[in-house]
Amino acid sequence: MTHIPVLRDESIDGLAIKKGDIVVDGTLGGGGHTFEMIKRYNDSIKIIGLDLDIDAKSRTEILIGDTPSDFVFANSGFQDIDKVLTDLKIENVDGILLDLGISSFQLEVAGRGFSFLKDEPLLMTMKKEPTEEDLTAKEIVNTWDEENIADIIYGFGEEKYSRKIAKKIVESRKEKEIETTFDLVKIIQDAVGGYYKGLRIHPATRTFQALRIATNSELSNLEEVLDKGFNCLKKGGHMSIISFHSLEDRIVKRAFVGLKEKGLAKIINKKPIIPTAEELRSNPRSRSAKLRLLEKI
Ligand SMILES: C[S@@+](CC[C@H](N)C(=O)[O-])C[C@H]1O[C@@H](n2cnc3c(N)ncnc32)[C@H](O)[C@@H]1O
Repeated sequence: MTHIPVLRDESIDGLAIKKGDIVVDGTLGGGGHTFEMIKRYNDSIKIIGLDLDIDAKSRTEILIGDTPSDFVFANSGFQDIDKVLTDLKIENVDGILLDLGISSFQLEVAGRGFSFLKDEPLLMTMKKEPTEEDLTAKEIVNTWDEENIADIIYGFGEEKYSRKIAKKIVESRKEKEIETTFDLVKIIQDAVGGYYKGLRIHPATRTFQALRIATNSELSNLEEVLDKGFNCLKKGGHMSIISFHSLEDRIVKRAFVGLKEKGLAKIINKKPIIPTAEELRSNPRSRSAKLRLLEKI
């Protein structure tokens, strides 16, 4: 199982890397983007790789092998970029790359309930080993109010049958705790399967997206990293952000326009860069990807 990096060359070219640069890969994942930067620049640049999922470290180190590199890993959220850099005694950086969402490993093999096609515990945490304090999808569906569940399914999943699904979730959990992905898929099928007959989208797609976003506070973390990350950038530094759905892209676009209007940044591509037909063919996961690039001035 490999994770094919999306918009790899476009996102790295967009960082306009020079020898001596320090670059943060805020979503290390399978190390695909980082390894490409290392292949291009070896140890003439420093890369700081962040991921909440500790497995990202070993996957990347295997890729790097003996290739000369200056790579440091931090098992942290990108929303804490400022603290990570302070700990490393780094004042500011030349580039920040984010390739949002989950990796193919997390979807296919992590066993944490990201896929509605596999029967797994309903965790959906980016972290490999969530602690008691970490929110899980299981906690959301078993303990939150019906209205709050409906609100996230609607707000983060853009699911128009959110109320019907939330109602069924609350009815079902009175009978038996919802423990696995397949428990939840059955509930969604029972609630709205009929409305999805003949459509190409699985009835659980939007609810699963919503629960993942809520479990990991994905949208607020993105807002935070855009703000803190920009403050950590040197003048002339670049941000390269790949998003996978309209909610994320809207946040990136808004933040970039705000910075431009304040005269603090230049938007490099007015329209987001999207995968070529060839990339779409060879990597269907790139389907909804959008890349936005910014330069601090
Ligand atoms: C799409 S994958 C990145 C893949 C990587 N660019 C590659 O080519 O191999 C996204 C990664 O970001 C991580 N991630 C998601 N949210 C995060 C956050 N707030 N902070 C740090 N890492 C996060 C996920 O655990 C996942 O490994």
